[in-house]
Amino acid sequence: MSLIETIKTKAKKDVKRIVLPEGEEPRTIAAAKIIRDEGLAVPVLLGDPARIDAEGIEIINPETSDKAAGYANELYELRKAKGVTPEDAAKLVKDPMYYGIMMVKLGDADGLVSGAVHTTGDMLRPALQIIKTKPGMKVVSSSFLMDCPNKSLGENGLLVYADCVVMPNPTAEELAHIAVSAAETARALCDIEEPRVALLSFSTKGSAKHELVSKVQQATEIAHQIAPSLLLDGELQLDAALVPEIAASKAKGSPVEGRANVLIFPDLQAGNIGYKITQRIAGADCFAVLQGLAKPCNDLSRGCSVDDIVNTVAMTAVQAQ
Ligand code: ACO
Repeated sequence: MSLIETIKTKAKKDVKRIVLPEGEEPRTIAAAKIIRDEGLAVPVLLGDPARIDAEGIEIINPETSDKAAGYANELYELRKAKGVTPEDAAKLVKDPMYYGIMMVKLGDADGLVSGAVHTTGDMLRPALQIIKTKPGMKVVSSSFLMDCPNKSLGENGLLVYADCVVMPNPTAEELAHIAVSAAETARALCDIEEPRVALLSFSTKGSAKHELVSKVQQATEIAHQIAPSLLLDGELQLDAALVPEIAASKAKGSPVEGRANVLIFPDLQAGNIGYKITQRIAGADCFAVLQGLAKPCNDLSRGCSVDDIVNTVAMTAVQAQ
């Protein structure tokens, strides 16, 4: 079974309620029907019912909803220290993105998927401001689940890449938290029982000296402190992370042993380029999720297909379980 089929099977076992703020958008409506028909989740569409043809699917109009006033009060309480006034809050909850985030915050939905229309930044900001990080986690970041044709790599071809979406230039401490989060994602979504985490660099075990290398070395130390039992090593070049023979010569004694299944990139440029290289040149299927949020919210690419939306809802539902 492919990774996404396994995730869909899991989603069906404990059905969650997932809100889709871009409810008037045609791909989203088509996806909601598939999600409902396949029993992957209970979809809730936000928008004007007059513009949504989706019989049998719950539609909520934030403009007229009787819950909007309560959500506005809560939003004001959460953000008043940041200068949000009651009038601002009342206006913000009419925006489906904020309305959906408040549904998740207050438990009226288990998760949210958006981004077919909104940019990554516009989708992320309300989630970061309102849902916030889960206890003990310093940052929200992302993992890409990479299902590669070469089954000799990672966990039978499965690899988790982080961070490829959120943090442009993480500090050493933030990078450590990204590594620990990605290992959790590998366990929760990919059924990888033993994540083996490599913090990547252009240097292996001090072969080069540079402030960029020092950051990855520090991040490795901090990650060891946060999660002492996690199999984790750095700084490693990609080949020392993935090829046992190269690890044996360049990184003797590495706990990862050239068999990494979780790859941590030093910054967003490396991560974003890295996943796209794997997708385009190696032909991997890839699926993005946000990690570190107190409740699951996930972003779509604006070029997403109906299938991408269905898949992301299934992953969000599993994260909510
Ligand atoms: N984790 C936790 N909280 C965060 C994070 C984070 N990574 N980043 C920002 N925040 C919090 C801030 O502390 C702040 O909270 P507060 O308002 O309660 O004080 C709130 O979020 C907003 O912070 P800002 O600094 O105003 O937000 P910013 O403008 O930095 O935006 C964002 C954050 C949107 C994540 C930004 O870093 C960004 O644009 N990242 C890149 C996104 C992107 O374009 N990715 C590549 C394309 S996606 C693809 O290819 C699949």
